[in-house]
Formats: sequence, C-alpha cells, structure tokens
Amino acid sequence: MKFKVSVIGAGNVGATTAQRIYEKGYSDVVLIDILEDMPQGKSLDMLESGPVLGTDANIIGSNSYNESKNSDVVVITAGIARKPGMSRDDLLITNMKIVGSVTKEVVKRSPNAILVVVSNPLDAMVQHAYNISGFPKERVVGMAGILDTARFRTFLSQELNVSVTNISAYVLGGHGDTMVPLIGSTTVGGVPISTLIKPNRLNEIIQRTRDGGAEIVGLLKTGSAYYAPSAAVAQMVESILLDRKEILPCAALLEGEYEINGLYAGVPIKLGANGIEEIIEIDLTDEESKALKNSAESVKELIEIMDKN
Ligand code: NAI
Ligand code: 2OP
Repeated sequence: MKFKVSVIGAGNVGATTAQRIYEKGYSDVVLIDILEDMPQGKSLDMLESGPVLGTDANIIGSNSYNESKNSDVVVITAGIARKPGMSRDDLLITNMKIVGSVTKEVVKRSPNAILVVVSNPLDAMVQHAYNISGFPKERVVGMAGILDTARFRTFLSQELNVSVTNISAYVLGGHGDTMVPLIGSTTVGGVPISTLIKPNRLNEIIQRTRDGGAEIVGLLKTGSAYYAPSAAVAQMVESILLDRKEILPCAALLEGEYEINGLYAGVPIKLGANGIEEIIEIDLTDEESKALKNSAESVKELIEIMDKN
C-alpha cells in the first residue's frame, strides 16, 4: 500500500525530510511552499533520482494545498529559521501566523491526517497547531526530543568511543534551554552513564546538547540544522505509516501525565498508525520531575504571548 505524506515548507528541513521519505519508496510525497516554482524544482530533481535509487514513489511540488488532499501525514516545517544571535523564541509571532494559516489549509483537505509539527519555537507551535486544527490530541505531535536525544547520544558516543547504537538516552521537556536530559536513565551498553563519565564532564556534554541547535547556527551562519532534524522527522513518519509503535521522545499534549496539564512537552510516546497511542510515564528523580515542570512552564509563557497576538 502506498501512503501519502505532505511536507509544508520546502526549505532546508522540508526538502530534506521530503527526500528521506521519498527515498524509502513506500509513500508518495507532496512538497508545498509559497515560493513560486521552488518546491516544483526540488521535487522534480528528487523524482529524477528515482531511476538511480530504484524508487517508484511519486513526488510533486506545488504552491497549492489542493495537492495535499487526503494525506496520511502532514509535516509542517513552514516558517522562518534562526540566524546567529536569534533564539528559537524570537521566531514566535512570525511562525505562529504561518503555522496557523498552514494548519487551517491542511486540515480542510486532510481531515484524518496526523500532523507532525517542526516549526520553531516547537512546543508553542505544536500547541498552536493543535488548537487551530480541532484534531484530537493523538493526531498532533511535535518533533524535537528525537533530535535533542540524538545530539546527546552523538556527544556521548564521541566521548566514550562507542557505537551510538549502544547509547540509550532520553532528552525530555521543551526544545530549548530548559530541555531535560535524563541522567538516571542514560546507559551505555546497560552501564549507567554516571559511572562512566565524571560529573563535570557530563555537565559539559549536557550543555553542548542544550546548545546543539545554536552550535549549528553559528557554523552555518545563514540558517539552522536540517540533516539531523529531517532524520528525526522521517523516523516519526515511518513509525506512523508502518505502524511501528516506536517509543520516541516527542512533544505531546499532557493532561495530567508528569503532573503537567494542558501543555505540550517532550515525553516518551508510543507512535503508531493512530498517532500518539500512549504517553509513557517513566520514573523521574525529584530533580528531573521539577526540571520537566519548569520546562513546561516556560512554554506557557510563550503561549500567553501568542494569546495576546
Ligand atoms: P527554511 O527557511 O530553510 O525553510 C522554511 C520554508 O518555509 C521556506 O522555504 C519558506 O518559503 C517556507 N514558508 C514560509 N511561509 C510559508 C507558508 N505560509 N506556507 C508554506 N511555506 C512557507 O527553514 P528550515 O531550516 O527548513 O526550518 C524550518 C522551521 O523548522 C524553522 O522554524 C526552524 O526553526 C524549525 N526547525 C525545528 C527543529 C525542531 O527540532 N523542531 C529543527 C530544525 C528546524
Ligand atoms: C535545532 O535545534 C533549529 O531547533 C533547531 O537545530
């Protein structure tokens, strides 16, 4: 069975996400942007890679939402990205308007889709998309935790000279300075991380993880990260389309879980054909629990600003 995924915003994250999904071959892809001809050009270029890759999926670019009709999954990457010196929160009002208008257009045409929101500031944008969509909470999910956790795992793997696949970790909370790496549940081949890396060094690695987005912005100078982000989105899309039910850290609406109510926050979820099929409540230390609540509170401030605009 061939699926249909629409990716809104054909910039760095959108185009690389479309490419990753298209190359899997199990889903047709529609890439939409407001820039005239740009999504068409990128999609045609990707389509022409099909014979080399042996992919029979279709990919089209468009400036019209009509092409997105009846998508199984819609990925929202539309908006502006950070430039050096900007925080994710600096994008709030501009991206709120873009994400709001995009959400209205896509839900009209794909009322049964699952929305995967990527635009920043992520936690506020996914909450906004949820409010505008009228969709059940299971069908609106945000991407950030997989990326933040992947950065943490990368740095730990470099530190210990061990395969990334042997590092099990979770970074929860908001996609920002308040993100919460769970030290107690981070293990390397089953061995607790705290027995392998001294506290000072571990704190440095955690700080680098928190600053992971800014580190890439500082190097690229004209935009923000997209290879790792698009890999994270593609993992979420695959878990949904193929009903893999992977447990992944993603932004989900909490209604009492982790003692947080009515706010999106990054937590482990089971992601399958029905979207967020379960919110997994893992044991947190008191400190981690406090940090997670504090992280959700900081998102609340952004939501209050959005409410006034
Ligand atoms: P980009 O600037 O390369 O692409 C954004 C695209 O959105 C542009 O092509 C632009 O024309 C398009 N766009 C703007 N308004 C639109 C509208 N109304 N309808 C359709 N398309 C529209 O930016 P990039 O690097 O692709 O990042 C996209 C967003 O994703 C940014 O907000 C960025 O901060 C965020 N991001 C979030 C991550 C996360 O972990 N959640 C990771 C990486 C990026
Ligand atoms: C990142 O963390 C920009 O949020 C994006 O790279």
